[in-house]
Amino acid sequence: QTLVCVVGARPNFMKMAPIIRQLQNVNHLIRPYLVHTGQHYDQAMKDTFFQQLGIPEPDKDLGVGSGSHAVQTANIMLQFEPVLDEIKPFAVLVVGDVNSTIACGLVAVKKQIPLIHVEAGLRSYDREMPEEINRILTDQLSDLLLTTERAAADNLQKEGVSDDRICFTGNVMIDSLLSNCQQASPVLTTLHNYGCKIDIQAKNYALLTLHRPSNVDDIDTLTKLISVIGEVSQKLPVIFPVHPRTQQKITQAGLLDKLPEDRVIMLPPVGYLEMLGLMQSAKLVLTDSGGLQEETTALGVPCITLRENTERPITVTEGTNTIVGTDTAKIMQCVDDILISGGKTGRIPEYWDGQAAQRIVAEIVRRYLPGN
Ligand code: UD1
Repeated sequence: QTLVCVVGARPNFMKMAPIIRQLQNVNHLIRPYLVHTGQHYDQAMKDTFFQQLGIPEPDKDLGVGSGSHAVQTANIMLQFEPVLDEIKPFAVLVVGDVNSTIACGLVAVKKQIPLIHVEAGLRSYDREMPEEINRILTDQLSDLLLTTERAAADNLQKEGVSDDRICFTGNVMIDSLLSNCQQASPVLTTLHNYGCKIDIQAKNYALLTLHRPSNVDDIDTLTKLISVIGEVSQKLPVIFPVHPRTQQKITQAGLLDKLPEDRVIMLPPVGYLEMLGLMQSAKLVLTDSGGLQEETTALGVPCITLRENTERPITVTEGTNTIVGTDTAKIMQCVDDILISGGKTGRIPEYWDGQAAQRIVAEIVRRYLPGN
């Protein structure tokens, strides 16, 4: 029995790795057929993650690459349809909220192949986020919706999704985090490997990531954020692995010289084990990523989210996350609070325990392969 499993972009890889491992090593009832859409394709955005997370070579690489939303989504759909015709899976499994998620989900459902969505029900209630559109639509299409936190089921019920399609299986990205923590690359090793000579000490730097279109595509917001980062860097050094989108925008806007070279360490996108190490040893994390909000909660590291909202409220109510938006004063206040008092400590949310892949596979077997 074949299950087509889809990955496309960087944040998908750490969610899929434990599921593939569970299917391959523990449960031989289901044969995973791995499709990579090619949404992310660089060595640093894709290959390093496959290697470090032990994801097998994809059975099929659709090689779609970058493009506008319409072009990328349409190309994925065109390339994905023949795969389903050939493989005839009993279901298609998608993770997260990227363009690859909705594109492959839509193709599957139109072919009447059941769709399974891992990380269902998260809502920022901000329709300007492309991911929010992907989340809402993928959830409407899905036959089985597997959630990472209990609030997700309430969001889904409001949208008319019936209870029997929803199952709380926990956060599979945290399976990856827990199984790789010991192998994380120490911060000094990472900096050394990137040829950085600045003296940094563990728990005495801020880690920054920035890539949301709302923050980096709008020049006024980007300019404001870069100037806040300059200010933060006067208090403690900042390590900044730069997403390709952000690199382009900062360069185009001529903002590079606003970041003092001796206080802001700009790196290319780093691998999974490097990022884990950078997070573990950070005094605080500043980010607009969804994944980092969860990973910092799991690691107990204070996180300042540079967005007006979050689709992951449990990281705020139970975890170490604070939503501050892009207001300079609020960001600086939050940084100061963490430097003075250490920031939120939080606790580990329910089912963020390293066993999510096991629960996910068990639920799939129960639903689609009864009697096994
Ligand atoms: C995508 C996801 C976003 C996720 C992010 C993580 C959507 C709508 N967005 O955004 O949810 O948080 O991935 O990284 O799916 N590029 C490269 N090399 C690559 C891939 C991209 O240089 O391997 C550059 C291209 O110039 C491209 C740009 O980055 O145009 C943006 O890539 P894209 O996949 O369109 O969106 P992301 O911003 O990465």
